[in-house]
Amino acid sequence: MSAPDPVAQIQMMSGGYFVSRCLQVAAELGIADLIADVPVSAAQLAATTGSSADALGRVLTLLCAQGIFERRDGGFAHTEVSRFLRSDHPASMRSFARMFGNPVIWQSVIRLDESVVTGEPMGEKVTPGGLWQYLAEHKDRSEVFNETMAAKARAMVPLVPRAYDFTRFARIADIGGGRGHLLQAILAASPDSRGVLFDQPHVLREVANLASDRLALEGGNFFEDALPEADAYVLMEVIHDWDDPSAERILRAVRRAAPAGARLVIVEAKMPDPPMACWTATLDIVMLNLVGGRQRGFGEYTNLLERSGFGEIREIPMGMGHSIIEASPA
Ligand SMILES: C[S@@+](CC[C@H](N)C(=O)[O-])C[C@H]1O[C@@H](n2cnc3c(N)ncnc32)[C@H](O)[C@@H]1O
Repeated sequence: MSAPDPVAQIQMMSGGYFVSRCLQVAAELGIADLIADVPVSAAQLAATTGSSADALGRVLTLLCAQGIFERRDGGFAHTEVSRFLRSDHPASMRSFARMFGNPVIWQSVIRLDESVVTGEPMGEKVTPGGLWQYLAEHKDRSEVFNETMAAKARAMVPLVPRAYDFTRFARIADIGGGRGHLLQAILAASPDSRGVLFDQPHVLREVANLASDRLALEGGNFFEDALPEADAYVLMEVIHDWDDPSAERILRAVRRAAPAGARLVIVEAKMPDPPMACWTATLDIVMLNLVGGRQRGFGEYTNLLERSGFGEIREIPMGMGHSIIEASPA
């Protein structure tokens, strides 16, 4: 295969956010849900979504050029990729595309230059209280965010109880566990354990129906409230949202709640080394720009955990570019 033309490569990447935005808009309008097995014309799609047929057709044409949809028989048809934008796909990624259309993310990206100069995130500059406060105040955006967390974790969740034995723990707490997708998988693989899902009250309200005699819901703020007592504390893609001082505060809260013999089980994506084009490398910049977090390596986790009162730290690779970091109260 020939090397890409450098000029074209720079052009495509410089304007690449138009492609992202087209994908987000198509997902927001639910275009994939309107296409079944036969092609649908731009005019039909525009009439159903209240759009301009010309504009929508051009947006979808760009997405065809990117291999998302396919243009056939005068209309737009599904590819294997666009089927994942359908709401009813079992591994739907529609919410993921919609989430990246969140105005807090866009307004932060505009100010990435400022993040680079200052090292600071822009989320709190573009809206008071930053992303988390915004989500707490915007129910529709919060639902999309929490659905996205479940969607991004769908393929990864089954790997966690496969890589790590939870059956020895009577009580397992998932801290910042979102909609409880990971905790449910852990409890399914560990039938004698009970679980407690700890997250912000407005997040747990979305999954009130999950509560059972094996799965308790506990709303709270991990910076202010005491965490539940448990034999294992799971934190999946929570620590990466925070800078070192805040990450340390969360870990110290776990340390205070953890009885002797408890285990901390952190699940995080690993930064590729050497660098390569993959989602984790992009995610690191999302963290930098939006919330001030970062994708950390094992050495950085070891330092953070030791400073927060943990020892016996080990890494367990679990596949899909993710690792489990296990630690015990020191
Ligand atoms: C990136 S999401 C990860 C969700 C889930 N663990 C996963 O990996 O799919 C971070 C989670 O932390 C929760 N969170 C953020 N700030 C919090 C706080 N101050 N107290 C408790 N939970 C918080 C969010 O509501 C969200 O569910």
